[in-house]
Amino acid sequence: MTKPEPMLSDSEIEELAARIDRPIALVGMMGVGKSTIGRKLASLLHLPFTDADEAIEKAAQMSVSEIFARFGEPYFRDGERRVIARLAADRPSIIATGGGAFVNDETRHLLLEKAICVWLDCDTDTLVERVGRKDTRPLLRDGNPREIIARLKAEREPYYSQAPIKVMSEAGPHNQAVQRILKGIEKWL
Ligand code: S3P
Repeated sequence: MTKPEPMLSDSEIEELAARIDRPIALVGMMGVGKSTIGRKLASLLHLPFTDADEAIEKAAQMSVSEIFARFGEPYFRDGERRVIARLAADRPSIIATGGGAFVNDETRHLLLEKAICVWLDCDTDTLVERVGRKDTRPLLRDGNPREIIARLKAEREPYYSQAPIKVMSEAGPHNQAVQRILKGIEKWL
């Protein structure tokens, strides 16, 4: 059996929270767990949490699928860039970005400059299993989800890998990924 990874104590997490001076942005593929992990991280660090896709939907008064269907992906990316620019310029918070956000040059540069960027990664099988639980992702509608995920993952890795912190979020409970992020940030700060 592999040894359990040591966890940060409550007081260590408190000390870390006091040092966080800018937003933390979670980047990575759809299905990797950015929103679920982001919410847990926010609650441990006592920071506000924003899901960028939800903020875009709120600003547009429309779902992501509707935005893609009615106006197309470039329009969505433009809204995504503006929403993320607003969130990244704000006080410390946790931002879960949509899977394609960090591929956009402007959005990525902005996040790298203003936020602590954490790349969450896991294997393709786990991504496919997790995205299968929801039918809200327009990019997965036209074709075989496994092939699309595998292709996007390979195309996007050169961008995601520019984030200074990388954390694996394998199948199973997300607590371990949350702890790894905390340790990654502690080391990075
Ligand atoms: C996208 C991922 C989605 C959402 C949109 C496009 C992508 O967000 O922004 O459907 O390009 O990978 P999640 O990563 O939260 O699923």
